[in-house]
Amino acid sequence: MKKNFLINQYLADKKMSIKHNYLSKQFQNSKKIFNLINNTVKFNDFTLGRYLEKFETKFCKYQKVKYSIGVGSGTDAIFLSLKALGIKEGDEVITPAYSFYATAGAIVTAGAKPVFVDIKDDLNMDENKIEKKITKKTRAIVPVHWSGRICNMEKIIEIAKKFKLFVVEDACHAILAHDYKKRYAGNFGITGCFSMHPLKNLNVWGDGGIITTNNKTIYKKLKLLRNHGLISRDNCKIYGYNSRLDTIQAAVGLEMIKKINHITKKRIENAKYLNFRLKENKNIKLIKEQKKYRSVFHLYQFYCKKRNKLNNFLRQNKIDSKIHYPKPLHLHLAAKKFGYKRGDYPCAENLSKQVISIPVHEFIKRKQLDYIIKKIEKFYNS
Ligand SMILES: Cc1ncc(COP(=O)(O)O)c(C=O)c1O
Repeated sequence: MKKNFLINQYLADKKMSIKHNYLSKQFQNSKKIFNLINNTVKFNDFTLGRYLEKFETKFCKYQKVKYSIGVGSGTDAIFLSLKALGIKEGDEVITPAYSFYATAGAIVTAGAKPVFVDIKDDLNMDENKIEKKITKKTRAIVPVHWSGRICNMEKIIEIAKKFKLFVVEDACHAILAHDYKKRYAGNFGITGCFSMHPLKNLNVWGDGGIITTNNKTIYKKLKLLRNHGLISRDNCKIYGYNSRLDTIQAAVGLEMIKKINHITKKRIENAKYLNFRLKENKNIKLIKEQKKYRSVFHLYQFYCKKRNKLNNFLRQNKIDSKIHYPKPLHLHLAAKKFGYKRGDYPCAENLSKQVISIPVHEFIKRKQLDYIIKKIEKFYNS
């Protein structure tokens, strides 16, 4: 069997002095978390425990939503949402051609065909291209608030209403992101799906996800689905899944969520500074932000000339730049069975050749951002 590629990636990332991943720092004040974990052991409270309920209540407050349901991962959040809505074999679900694989993966494992829509310059789904993709089989739209930038939800909801489709938001990058009316991610669709993987803005010590909804019926169904469909120890109402957010992870989340306002503020500040310093560079095109929207910069990305060479150059200079992602969803082997081919989504294909991500997290110092900028300038001036 091939060696786990993640290990190689972590080893390469470890050598970087300005890191994209900052796990040890992020989890540095872990004493309080260990105390909570000790309590879960003391109370024998390992699944669906009191910390999970507390965490869900807190999450609702931050995200300004009525209900939330802790689940195993962001992927499960999307998958379970689709299952709760009755998505099944033969259905079609519309989603952008550019995202992390899990968005499409969750649709496929729910039994449906992912029908891709091209993206715009802001890397979000092009709402004007959705209607053309709707067929008799279409049941739902899964927009992705990529890197924490809210999609044009007004238009997407309008289309969904017109064609009687569900909207499940992939808000995995978008905790605390909102639109110009201060409507928070996870409040537009029937559900919003968040990831708390260690690399996300809000994270736990492993995998974790959470679903938000303002719909009581869906809330109740999701609570059943994540826990085998049990209404009591001895009574199973519907067949479901085992995808609970572990109580231990909920305890971690309870501590980490206290920092989310600070984390978000720092990421936004860093992104603004990078935008300010990079905007005059003729080899770079910045991603435009919409007025009054709050993007939360899970990633800081821009378009650039000689992208791969710049990426190599930055990495040689120990700056952990990354490509998210070099290939759009429809060009992966996994999507081949649906008949997609090169040329189907020209914007996604073109933009994924030009986009680069540089570190933006809350621990970066101004002088480190200046160093990154200096190196980018050096690359283009030499
Ligand atoms: C856009 C998007 N959707 C879904 C997911 C899946 O989240 P998880 O890794 O928690 O399953 C990710 C993870 O990175 C993501 O980036």
